[in-house]
Amino acid sequence: MKTLWTSSQKRTHYCKDICLETVDQVVCLNGWVKAVRDHGQILFIDLEDQTALVQINCKTPNLNCSELSYDSVLSIKGRVKKRPVEMINKNLKTGEVEILAEEIQILSSAKTAPFRKGDQINENLSLKYRYLDFRRQKKLRTNLKIRHKVLQIIRQELSQKDFCEIDTPILYKSTPEGARDYLVPSRKSIGHFYALPQSPQILKQLLMMSGFEKYFQIAKCFRDEDLRSNRQPEFSQLDLEMSFVEEKDILSLTEDLIKKIWKEIKNEDIQDFPKISYKKALSDFGTDKPDLRNPLKLKTIPYDKIQSLQLKVLMSALSENNAAKALFIPGLVFSRSQADKLNKEVKSLGGEGLLWIQKKSLEYSSPIKKHLTDKQLEELYDLSGGKKEGVCLILSGETKLVNTVLSALISSFGKKENLIDDSKTKFVWIQDFPYFSFDPLVKKWTALHHPFTLPSQESITNELLKDIETTKARSYDLVCNGHELAGGSLRIFDEKLQRLIFSTLGLTKEEMEKQFGFFLEALSYGVPPHGGIAWGIERLIMLLTDSENIRDVMAFPKSSSGACLMSESPSNISIETLTEMGISIIKR
Ligand code: AMO
Repeated sequence: MKTLWTSSQKRTHYCKDICLETVDQVVCLNGWVKAVRDHGQILFIDLEDQTALVQINCKTPNLNCSELSYDSVLSIKGRVKKRPVEMINKNLKTGEVEILAEEIQILSSAKTAPFRKGDQINENLSLKYRYLDFRRQKKLRTNLKIRHKVLQIIRQELSQKDFCEIDTPILYKSTPEGARDYLVPSRKSIGHFYALPQSPQILKQLLMMSGFEKYFQIAKCFRDEDLRSNRQPEFSQLDLEMSFVEEKDILSLTEDLIKKIWKEIKNEDIQDFPKISYKKALSDFGTDKPDLRNPLKLKTIPYDKIQSLQLKVLMSALSENNAAKALFIPGLVFSRSQADKLNKEVKSLGGEGLLWIQKKSLEYSSPIKKHLTDKQLEELYDLSGGKKEGVCLILSGETKLVNTVLSALISSFGKKENLIDDSKTKFVWIQDFPYFSFDPLVKKWTALHHPFTLPSQESITNELLKDIETTKARSYDLVCNGHELAGGSLRIFDEKLQRLIFSTLGLTKEEMEKQFGFFLEALSYGVPPHGGIAWGIERLIMLLTDSENIRDVMAFPKSSSGACLMSESPSNISIETLTEMGISIIKR
């Protein structure tokens, strides 16, 4: 058992500081063993700390090196020496020098780890031994350091603009952000539960009502939903809110802060963010999260064109809620077998058959060639946006499905055809969202953003909503390279209007009181017009560090099934604790 750790063992220098200027000095270093090379008379140790790696030269025969396993933690005293010219390692920051060891103390010896630097391991093993993975992958550590730096910039910039950082509670009540809640049972009030916040939405609005005019928080949020490569059940938001503002105030504050972060972290100058409407985004890209680095766009085939062509495969576009859309990929050449493969892919995404026209050496080829005149084929090809050689893909059917399938093809062809410039960062604001969306599963209208969003003025007459389907929200999403980075809105600041929105969503008076009574009451005591936004911090760091998966920018992420493999949570609770909480488990 080792307990000895005295000030004489503490480092005098970090490894990065060992260089030609420190030659002949006696230094003490602390760090991990990363390699041991035994050459008989001489033994070399590579010692690494959080700053760099240094070679230790152990000539002295009485040094105890027998227990020096990989990853053991050492305190090493010795003199810095210049390496002979032929021994200089140009790949190492400290490669011109080494330490001639005089004293080696093993502070903690390491047993053989389940994996080493350079080993290919599966995700589960890396999550189970997250602390070892951090030692192995410098990139993971760098990502967290960048996160730290970004949070510093955010805090500094917002503080300078008179924002006040305020923490809101984690043990709270359900907040409707569209996911399931994580619940915490109360021991003191059996049968009652707290909900972990999906966001601090209601609380930040209450802060505006409290008289704070500019608030922000790096807030932990919890959402029980299916995980994806940019989604975790527990994540952080930069959550902010301001009183007496319009959309443009929140948008310009966000833009300035984003530009500052990109300049400081990546030394990249970001252009002003364009704004496009939700409708235009769906029409041009098939998604409200377009990647503007990708030049591919969709074209809608007009009604009259479909009618005049009388092509069976396009006729479904004439029904209500349906469309026929085309995607033109310049320069693409493909064979029939590739076309068949693509058709299979489209079918796996839920689409019916994909129609294609290829133009090569001024000749058109297509499975529908025999059904159309040359002029009709050429017109249809040109309509999709092409005059040049390439391939035009056309899909007809339910608009939502057509958009989903074609936006997936925009993304995959953009990558395959090398059309996306990875070195660029492109932001875009999406605005003019519909307020409500119909959920066919539960046969209910839901709020697309959240029910505290202000509806547009045109959507209301005589204190009633004109039409649920056309009601627009005063909300905005910020999308970067195809990822939704942030979302926000102006808020309802009138109790009557808030009640109208809740009742439109199907809440009875009793349900309103039970869930939001305290908030509705607060809305009756004088409320400033207010609005705000929340950024996903992990998504921001993913974009800044070119990370493919959200796990790579988090210290201790959950697995794809939402578990912490390291601590094996969630885990069973003893029967005594359950009884104390008044809980019994129903087996399904
Ligand atoms: P919204 O639900 O759009 O808005 O969330 C804001 C941003 O949070 C990030 N985000 C996530 N990041 C990782 N894992 C998740 N599961 C996850 N869910 C969301 C996204 C998203 O854009 N209260 C409102 C904001 C407001 O109106 O001010 C809200 O939470 O980057």
